[in-house]
Amino acid sequence: MMQGKALIIGNGFINGIELSTVFKNQELNLELVHVRTAKEGLEVLDEDTEFRAIILMGRHPDMELTELIQRIKEKTSLPVIVVNNEMDKETMFRILDMGAYAWQNDKRHIEALPLIVQCAITKYELESERTEKEKLISESRRQWMAIFDGITDFIFVTDDKYNIVKINQALASYFKKTPRELIGEKCYQLFKCDPDTCKISTALPSETSQTYETTMDGRIYQVSLYHLYDRIPLIIHYMKDITELIRLKNQLYHAEKLTSLGLLVSGVAHEINNPLTGVIAYAELLMMKTGDENIKNELKKILQSADRCKRIVENLLTFSRQREPVKSLESINSIIERAIDLRAYWLRASNIEVIKDFGEAPSLLVDAQQMQQVILNILLNAEQAILEAKRKKGQIMFTTRYIPKSQRIRITITDNGTGIPEENLSKIFDPFFTTKPVGIGTGLGLSISHGIVTEHGGIIWADNPPQGGARITIELPVKTEKGGS
Ligand SMILES: Nc1ncnc2c1ncn2[C@@H]1O[C@H](COP(=O)(O)OP(=O)(O)OP(=O)(O)O)[C@@H](O)[C@H]1O
Ligand SMILES: [Mg+2]
Repeated sequence: MMQGKALIIGNGFINGIELSTVFKNQELNLELVHVRTAKEGLEVLDEDTEFRAIILMGRHPDMELTELIQRIKEKTSLPVIVVNNEMDKETMFRILDMGAYAWQNDKRHIEALPLIVQCAITKYELESERTEKEKLISESRRQWMAIFDGITDFIFVTDDKYNIVKINQALASYFKKTPRELIGEKCYQLFKCDPDTCKISTALPSETSQTYETTMDGRIYQVSLYHLYDRIPLIIHYMKDITELIRLKNQLYHAEKLTSLGLLVSGVAHEINNPLTGVIAYAELLMMKTGDENIKNELKKILQSADRCKRIVENLLTFSRQREPVKSLESINSIIERAIDLRAYWLRASNIEVIKDFGEAPSLLVDAQQMQQVILNILLNAEQAILEAKRKKGQIMFTTRYIPKSQRIRITITDNGTGIPEENLSKIFDPFFTTKPVGIGTGLGLSISHGIVTEHGGIIWADNPPQGGARITIELPVKTEKGGS
């Protein structure tokens, strides 16, 4: 049985019968609140919020019927039922237009009113419930989309015909498009891959999710495929950029390798150092003693070879990091300047232009000598690569930038030399890895540099920029503890 209150504005007596009796007889247990004037009715509406319907009966001496409806509608969306037998057609249509119910009643069938009120209330409440639900659904859809688009990893959903049915903002922005523009596109066209070797085709029949790695613009992504069963089978592609992770893993692996190798190398280098000093000393002594030019020439060759051995041993000792770094606050830009100055003559002689794109950077706590050695090693490699590529005009560009987010300084050294073959990129920091002829390279420059950078809490890596040549990047933390390594 329907309960609650209904507000009646106007004449509550019909043919001498009070309306509440009519409602009770029809088993509609609504409490009827009865007021005579429009003004009173509007006041009651302001005070009482428990009404479920408003019934306007007969005439209202203080207000036009349509104006009263208008005023009620401004206050509430409750159903308004107008019962009047003096309405002309035009008024009736206006009332209907305003969203109220109009019942032209000659009072003979007033017992039907409770049923009309009941229907109006039920309809109104069902509709309100529906709009409430729709509101909730659209709100949760909006929230879901905001989450989907807020994820910075790339996500897209395809159907079994490779059509993109959903794509998040991050991935769409990567392709410089909006998600709407990309929906309906074939995913293999977007990613420029071959549908025949596509992982989706093999993923579809299987129930479990799959993971594979792929590269895009030099970055490595781990792609996870998940099944989503809607009306049609769908696949969710979740692409996570794991470039940094892999780089860190490699750095760690490399650091471990260097530590054990360093121990071995430093032992061997020390052992060689002593007899080598003897070889050099005795060769020099013999040079002084003999007057024979032939013997002198041969001794010179011994000395030259021994010198080269000495340089290698010195490199080996540096590589095994015998010396503790002595750190002080330094400007990375001036360390680079000094390294370039040291090579200025050779750079000019080889027609290599050096471009310095230095950004404002805070001072770093570093061992200036070691850091200069790192820059020199990289600079020498760049010079050698430019000469090998036989460039008419060589170019080496130094960039420094402070990255506030990570509190690191990033240094990049880009050349227009031969570039580093893709398969060597993971090996160039290994000790003794060299592609240079015997006598030119020992393969220690970059591994020494790697050791120094790691010791300073930084990272170093290499890649080939799209325009050709090679690029070495170093990142050094600005906040470093003063003192040893
Ligand atoms: N800028 C570059 N362009 C092309 N290849 C490079 C560049 N820098 C390094 N390489 C490659 O990396 C290898 C290792 O470099 P690294 O400096 O460690 O040793 P090296 O230059 O061969 O010898 P060393 O530095 O001990 O004289 C080089 O042999 C070369 O193949
Ligand atoms: Mg080198």
